[in-house]
Amino acid sequence: MPKKLAAGNWKMNGLRQALDEVRALHDACPDAACDIVICPPATLIRSMVKVCDDMQIEVGGQDCHENSAGAHTGDISAPMLADTGASYVILGHSERRATYGETDALVRAKTLAAWDSGLTAIVCIGETLEQREAGQTLEVVGRQLQESTPDGASPETLVIAYEPVWAIGTGKTPTLEEIGEVHGFIREALVKRFGPEAQDMRIVYGGSMNPKNARDIAGIANVDGGLVGGASLKASDFYHIVKALDG
Ligand code: PGA
Repeated sequence: MPKKLAAGNWKMNGLRQALDEVRALHDACPDAACDIVICPPATLIRSMVKVCDDMQIEVGGQDCHENSAGAHTGDISAPMLADTGASYVILGHSERRATYGETDALVRAKTLAAWDSGLTAIVCIGETLEQREAGQTLEVVGRQLQESTPDGASPETLVIAYEPVWAIGTGKTPTLEEIGEVHGFIREALVKRFGPEAQDMRIVYGGSMNPKNARDIAGIANVDGGLVGGASLKASDFYHIVKALDG
């Protein structure tokens, strides 16, 4: 079984003072058995890398451009992320797919760019409420998985985040059975595509994961961690999720 991953997605939250939360998280669980990565806004990445220097906490970006440099005002490239000391990047988050029209093909190109810079890509996939209600969840997730990920993925280079769009930031979550069904389906698809080593590829759940539901979700087969938004902002909340993933 892969080592579990507790990934925090701070989204557009956090001023410099928020770095105290990372110190508090480290103080609360200095030797967590799971991997921890925090993806703060770009403005905090470098300073968070410095804060985490002697901690078991990795730092990641929330997006990167598919090109390594050029005339792309406002964008950040994968080499830039790697240059800060970041080691992960979230790609294809549903908020970026919805707000910026990011397609599966673009997410795939960004994933290749991330790999070129040695970053582990956390590729997000998940259905909308309409799609779930229409019984299209597995079809949508299967297509996104196939088209958003390049060939040649390994457990070191790729993490899949299953995030039902309707569960993000809403306090609603699928049932444990529903999560298990999708994660099992993703595992099968990964093994079929990338071979037996994909048994070790991490499939994390995201969408309203919190200190109360984390233990139950962490116990589902093929759930190898969480991608946590709101509940990752405060160490006092995120700590409980890390503990739940620690087993
Ligand atoms: P949430 O966000 O935990 O606040 O629902 C998860 C995510 O969007 O990655």
